[in-house]
Amino acid sequence: MQLAGKTALVTGGSRGIGAACARLLAERGAAVVVNYHQSKDVALKVVADITAAGGRAVALPGDVRDAEQVDRLFTAAMAEVGPIDILVLNAGPAVPWKPVTELTQAEFETKVLDEMRSFFLPAKAAMASMIARRSGCIIGISSGLSRYPAYGFSAHTTSKSGVDGLMKSLAFELGPYGIRVNTVAPGLTRTDATAHMPEAQVTAIAGMTPMRRVGEAADVAGIVAALADDATGFVSGAYIPVSGGIQMP
Ligand SMILES: NC(=O)c1ccc[n+]([C@@H]2O[C@H](COP(=O)([O-])OP(=O)(O)OC[C@H]3O[C@@H](n4cnc5c(N)ncnc54)[C@H](OP(=O)(O)O)[C@@H]3O)[C@@H](O)[C@H]2O)c1
Repeated sequence: MQLAGKTALVTGGSRGIGAACARLLAERGAAVVVNYHQSKDVALKVVADITAAGGRAVALPGDVRDAEQVDRLFTAAMAEVGPIDILVLNAGPAVPWKPVTELTQAEFETKVLDEMRSFFLPAKAAMASMIARRSGCIIGISSGLSRYPAYGFSAHTTSKSGVDGLMKSLAFELGPYGIRVNTVAPGLTRTDATAHMPEAQVTAIAGMTPMRRVGEAADVAGIVAALADDATGFVSGAYIPVSGGIQMP
């Protein structure tokens, strides 16, 4: 119960990596806001599971690409659990897989701008009360592809590189207020977002990975919960791969 007495908000906490983070942060004692966009029922199930296990959680809607909806989300979060201590910036737009020769300007701009909005807006909404309280923890979910490009992922590599830059800037500027900011970079992780991948491709990636498997959402949640813990209170500005060793920056 290392996080007892803390509050956390996970953007895109209804499914995949976000849901695993919400569950583990609650298990460690935090009161968790499970933000969702379209999957209300799934978000309510995450909350019900947390509550049944003796934890505290609430599901709140909000498209994190939209400033007004983000403001409403944080106002509602404040009313439900109080100011946010731990912000997990997880929700990001879908990945358009396309060779750069075929990628349109519109597809590129939509991915990059939506990703930036999804990370900047909730961080901006959370930081005022963190600054006032001289304490806070922000964790951004980037991707191993931010540093290791792969064929067809140019928009994703670009947008996640932007996430890395934003997280480093936040760590630099918010550190003096006692706010820690870190980046977690998953490799291939089994979620709805990757369910379409042919199993042969997943097996091939597992075979090239030192740990001989691909990631699960719980693997990412483990490091997120560790970073949220005061025991890692001097870790800021870090970029931590969760890739079984396939990516070693
Ligand atoms: N899976 C991987 O292999 C992998 C690898 C590296 C990095 N990542 C990163 O990890 C993060 C989570 O990915 P995932 O694989 O867990 O995806 P996922 O299983 O598809 O889940 C996406 C989650 O994000 C939410 N979401 C999407 N757009 C949103 C928006 N505009 N506003 C609020 N919530 C929104 C969804 O909510 P609703 O369902 O309620 O709409 C859902 O809870 C992303 O940033 C992704 O880039 C994933």
